[in-house]
Amino acid sequence: MELHKKEIIKATVPALEEHGTTITTVFYQNMFKKHPDLLNMFNQTNQKVGDQPKALAFTVLQAARHIDDLEAIVPAVIGIAHKHRALNVKPEHYPIVGENLLEGIKEVLGDAATPEIMDAWEEYYGEIAQIFIDVEAGMYKEAEWDGFVPFKVTGKDQLSDDIVRYTVKSDEVDFDVRAGQYITVKVDPSDYPYEALRHYSICSIHTEEGLQFAVKKEGTDDTAGVVSHHMHDDVQVGDTLELSAPAGDFLLDPADEKLLFIAGGVGATPVMAMIEEAIEAGKDPKFIYSVQNKGMHPFKDEMQEFGERIDVKVKYSDDEGFLNHEDFEGLQDRSVYICGSMHFMNAMIKVLHEVGFSEDNIHFEPFGPKMSLVGE
Ligand code: HEM
Repeated sequence: MELHKKEIIKATVPALEEHGTTITTVFYQNMFKKHPDLLNMFNQTNQKVGDQPKALAFTVLQAARHIDDLEAIVPAVIGIAHKHRALNVKPEHYPIVGENLLEGIKEVLGDAATPEIMDAWEEYYGEIAQIFIDVEAGMYKEAEWDGFVPFKVTGKDQLSDDIVRYTVKSDEVDFDVRAGQYITVKVDPSDYPYEALRHYSICSIHTEEGLQFAVKKEGTDDTAGVVSHHMHDDVQVGDTLELSAPAGDFLLDPADEKLLFIAGGVGATPVMAMIEEAIEAGKDPKFIYSVQNKGMHPFKDEMQEFGERIDVKVKYSDDEGFLNHEDFEGLQDRSVYICGSMHFMNAMIKVLHEVGFSEDNIHFEPFGPKMSLVGE
């Protein structure tokens, strides 16, 4: 991109960031009016709540900070690209997003939106889109299968008051999963106007008896929960679910020898698979788990079995309070993998820093609307 175009982008970003919400509103309204089929791909619950609409447009704006070296955004692109691949976002979708995003930008800039400025934004969007398309092309090549494939539900276990584990099997595909990955389910609830896609973490690396993932029942009002309620209430053993191939970049680094896993609530799901992987690799991880009370506690039997081989500590916050400094003393030499809600992770990361864990040794995966990993 020519220098003067980069200067135009840099000069217009602050105003656009300030009116980011207008951009996202115009973008989504226009895009869905012209392409109503995309309502089936985007999480309409998050649309209402407002997190995801911001994420896409703000990422485009924030990436402008790296406009002199756009390749620098690739590491940040990878997590999003995994999600795109899991949702079946394809290269032909990028111009649609681009066109409508540019309309949002044009509306915010108003009279200031000269052809020169709009031209610079179009070129810049094209460059970012190409980075995503290239990264995603590699992921499509490596995916265990293409698109969505039917799986039969062979097991449904109530793991806690609000978490169910599904076991599903397919005759069509043979595959491996890695600890920390998620699958994406496509459902069509009868009382919901669209199809819906949701990501759910895989809870075991063993797939001989079927692929296992866990779903938490979320929310009670109509701003959340449509899909997880459908899963809990309507999807039964013998039904069919469409799944896209495992995805995600929250994976164990095989070079990490000394491990500490920390999970909160349903955040135990990917961590259960990671602990299996670590134990089977001959490592001796420690696991610290926080959950509200016994009723909310999933994977009780599995955690007890782990407890016979490794050090497992479960803390019920109703009785014993939240995890804090003394829970992590003496473990500072371990690589940490954390999974839980955004709030849980932020709290843990703060405590770990205060106890002296190094930033480089902390890996985390947020669960919640922002990442939509557990869906609603
Ligand atoms: C999710 C960025 C293009 C569909 C996201 C997220 C970001 C993002 C930051 C949130 C990720 C997260 O929650 O972890 C971008 C950027 C794009 C782009 C910067 C262009 C350069 C597209 C395109 C499509 C698409 C072309 C398809 C039409 C989605 C969907 C989600 C998503 C469906 C998940 C939203 C949900 O949960 O409802 N994207 N994206 N994105 N993106 Fe993109």
